[in-house]
Amino acid sequence: MYSSIPEITLHDGLTLPAIGFGTYKLNGNEGANAISSAVDVGYRLIDTAYNYENEGTVGEAVRRSSIRRENLKITSKLPGRYQAYDKAVPAIQESLYRAGLDYYDLYLIHWPNPDQGNYLEAWQALLDAKKWGLIRSAGVCNFLPEHLEYLEEETGEKPSINQIELHPFFNQEKQRIWHENNNIKTQSWSPLARANEVMQNETLKKIARQHNKTISQVILRWHYQLGSIPIPKSSSPERQLENISIFDFTLHEEEMGMIARLTQSNGRINDQDPATYEEF
Ligand SMILES: NC(=O)c1ccc[n+]([C@@H]2O[C@H](COP(=O)([O-])OP(=O)(O)OC[C@H]3O[C@@H](n4cnc5c(N)ncnc54)[C@H](OP(=O)(O)O)[C@@H]3O)[C@@H](O)[C@H]2O)c1
Repeated sequence: MYSSIPEITLHDGLTLPAIGFGTYKLNGNEGANAISSAVDVGYRLIDTAYNYENEGTVGEAVRRSSIRRENLKITSKLPGRYQAYDKAVPAIQESLYRAGLDYYDLYLIHWPNPDQGNYLEAWQALLDAKKWGLIRSAGVCNFLPEHLEYLEEETGEKPSINQIELHPFFNQEKQRIWHENNNIKTQSWSPLARANEVMQNETLKKIARQHNKTISQVILRWHYQLGSIPIPKSSSPERQLENISIFDFTLHEEEMGMIARLTQSNGRINDQDPATYEEF
């Protein structure tokens, strides 16, 4: 069994557990079983998105679980095609309708799509949705510092969270420090690099042996010690439990340094650079 999960407080007062559960590719009845298993295992933060086409699956998993809605934190995300204000508001309502929920705890703009020039309107819609009680906290994903600065300059409000690609092969040091200096929390997507070659890495293997832990546990603990909230996805109850069991050991400074040296400038999984990559 894992030790209890620490809580992180965002600048707007919302608290989140220090690790969450990713749901990309968990759809339908099997997906609902996997997500309710994650809740049984102890995850209380669940990450979905309009574009995963599984908000309904997440809502069903919540209804199947024995945990009350108010004890869960549920995140969804606004797709690029609905960033204009008059599309964003109905999209948020549709997201809630699909999940069968009255509110999301956290709602994020999925990608900035800077060339489209609409992310400020999307941000305004999220701020209004927060005022109307549809969401409790407004955040973003994949925003670069220039995009974050622009939101604050124009609205006086900055996102509570920026969810970014972050794993040992792409550790986002500069962006993380920028977030820290600006009181924005970092969340790590694909925290296990989708279990690519990282799982065979010799440095990580060695550190895992030292602590009698698995490579996934070392990686997820590393996220926690960096101050970022990882949201690993797993369809298996055993791996879900493995991934959440990271609060009973500490990586030493030297080990944190060894993992920091694994980063590569081209370490992104699918070369999705938010300055140019667009998703709709
Ligand atoms: N904001 C964005 O733009 C964005 C982009 C991508 C993802 N996300 C979010 O981030 C979440 C996590 O990222 P992700 O799903 O891309 O990748 P991930 O969590 O890094 O990796 C998931 C993969 O790792 C495997 N895995 C999980 N635990 C394992 C373990 N202990 N040992 C070995 N393999 C393990 C899973 O297989 P099994 O399922 O078979 O265990 C799955 O194939 C997503 O689900 C989604 O919610 C957000």
